[in-house]
Amino acid sequence: MERNARHGGEVKVAPSVLSARPLELESQVRQVALAGADMLHLDIMDGNFVPNLTFGPATAKALSSINLLPLDVHLMVSAACLDWAIPAFAEAGARYITVHSEVTPHLSRTLRTIRGLGVRSAVALNPATPPDFLPYVLDELDMVLIMTVNPGFGGQAFIPAMLKKIEVVREMIDRAGVPCEIEVDGGIDAATGAEAVARGATILVAGSYVFSATDPGEAVRSLKMCSRER
Ligand code: DX5
Ligand code: ZN
Repeated sequence: MERNARHGGEVKVAPSVLSARPLELESQVRQVALAGADMLHLDIMDGNFVPNLTFGPATAKALSSINLLPLDVHLMVSAACLDWAIPAFAEAGARYITVHSEVTPHLSRTLRTIRGLGVRSAVALNPATPPDFLPYVLDELDMVLIMTVNPGFGGQAFIPAMLKKIEVVREMIDRAGVPCEIEVDGGIDAATGAEAVARGATILVAGSYVFSATDPGEAVRSLKMCSRER
């Protein structure tokens, strides 16, 4: 409670449409928006950086045109894709664009490019990626995404060792005094979400917990409660 108050109040919830039913996308997005979701998390996979394929800019554009929730675009793509993918998803209406630190030796330049397009910038860290470099780019970041599973698929189990990483990143951000969000992604439900928020996460991404629930709206509301439970 105290920690959360320090970081700007209620936790934000970003349902991941990876787990939504493709033929009911619009109605499912409407359902989570009505329940109080803050953003819509869109996982972009290129079949190279991760062993899966998902959505392109046309889907992002369609989701942003219904104007229900800001789009949180998580790029799980290799370096070769970044040059065209960043402007394409900015044009499609992304609020945030996240790139993986593992794919580019030019992270600072990439983050500047994202902000230059009027989009909030974020970096994602795979479970085995140490956060040591973050203090050097915090001024260029609006969000750090801590992967709490290995990227590529929904429905995997939360990796408990990531709780320590959340704490370490929280400390770095507090020390720098910058308004940078901490998003966690993978295996998030009401229990793991509460653990992550207690360590300093401010945005919870959840795919299967929300969209495989009998009532996705209720699942969103239970995640919003994570900030109040401690
Ligand atoms: C995994 C994706 C996640 C995924 C999470 O690579 O980045 O956003 O949708 O799914 P759950 O919440 O089911 O672990
Ligand atoms: Zn994701």
